[in-house]
Amino acid sequence: MTTIDLNAAAREILKANGRGGYTVPNGRVYPFQWNWDSAFVALGFDTFDRPRAWTEVETLFRAQWDDGFLPHIVFWKDDPGYFPGASVWATGKEPVTSGITQPPVAATVVRKLWKSAAEADEADHYRPRLEALFPKLFAWHRWFAAYRDPDRRGVVVATHPWETGRDNSPEWDVPSEVIDVSNVGDYVRRDTSHLDSKMRPTKLEYDRYLALVQFGRATGWDHARIAAENPFRVADVGMSMILLRANRDLAALAEELGRSEESEEIRGWIQLAERGIDWLWHDELSAWCSRDTLTGRFSGHITSASFLSFYAGLADAGRDAATRAHFDRIAGLVDYLMPSLDPADPGFQMIRYWRGPVWAVVNYMIGTGLAEADDRERAEKVRQDTLELMRRNGFYEAYSPVDGTGSGGDDFSWTAAIWLTWAKGI
Ligand code: GLC
Repeated sequence: MTTIDLNAAAREILKANGRGGYTVPNGRVYPFQWNWDSAFVALGFDTFDRPRAWTEVETLFRAQWDDGFLPHIVFWKDDPGYFPGASVWATGKEPVTSGITQPPVAATVVRKLWKSAAEADEADHYRPRLEALFPKLFAWHRWFAAYRDPDRRGVVVATHPWETGRDNSPEWDVPSEVIDVSNVGDYVRRDTSHLDSKMRPTKLEYDRYLALVQFGRATGWDHARIAAENPFRVADVGMSMILLRANRDLAALAEELGRSEESEEIRGWIQLAERGIDWLWHDELSAWCSRDTLTGRFSGHITSASFLSFYAGLADAGRDAATRAHFDRIAGLVDYLMPSLDPADPGFQMIRYWRGPVWAVVNYMIGTGLAEADDRERAEKVRQDTLELMRRNGFYEAYSPVDGTGSGGDDFSWTAAIWLTWAKGI
């Protein structure tokens, strides 16, 4: 397909996956609104339908809880083809939502939407919408500070592998071993009836996911208790980098709106994170990786999230050089960057979900960070690899880094959105 055809196809996917005010990641496998998917989808809409881009984010925030929490799934309409659905989460909210969150990319996206509106001379028109969204974004980030970093380390402590957005990354294997699955009971998975089970997490992984959902539900989704007692509490390098970045963008928005008190509070979070994130640098590996807060153990795995330090705005000559060296080494091992797990890792599997495949959205963040750090060459390499995967195979959920085969669902919203955003340039 030519670029023109691909642009049209990508727009069609976003429209077809639209459900009036929000977009499902993929109608068959993921029939609800997902948190970080919607944020990336908004970037795609912004290339051809600005009002719709803002609506996508606004709809997501309509599901925000009073304490600032923003759920990872909003079950606007029931769909029996999905498990675990609304009744399993049982959060008792209206609209019904899940009880965990997802990587906070929304503030970064909203800043981008705002910039694009200003460049199109529409700042006056969008300022009220920005003013309405800002306190919601701020409340969510404050919730992160309170409940996902209870020890004030300056990192994000995920309480469920799904919260990280990198659901079955091997980073969660060892920390998950303590999860008691003896009371999970019987259940029927739906993901493996839509997709080849070779691509999906195993039964043991799934039991653990459900045990954590049951734990949260038993607390009545009490975020303070979950922060203090949840059996899984892992400082996720991906979310930590993403929140640091998002806080920088939120601070810029606060200043734009003349909110000096909020801006000062956000600056405090940024300073804490800039120091605290050191805890996630693994000296022996010379890489960024996640770390279990319960044992202090590093995951010891290099993943696509290890390359988000540039996106987070961190700069340290030694660590950056080491990160670039891993980037170049991995580029020599696969045809397409950036695999979700280092191909030299014994656990690498080219089509099993977050144990190998490439995700366009992660590439987008890696490439954006590298471009901002003035590493044009590597930024362009990630971007071109991403676009080439889509040109060859269409808009899949993920792709094999080895031969580019699409994996997971097809006609995937955030993949199409990244095409629209990136085909134009970084
Ligand atoms: C999978 C991914 C998660 C994503 C969701 C919808 O669960 O791991 O990151 O948000 O699918 O695309």
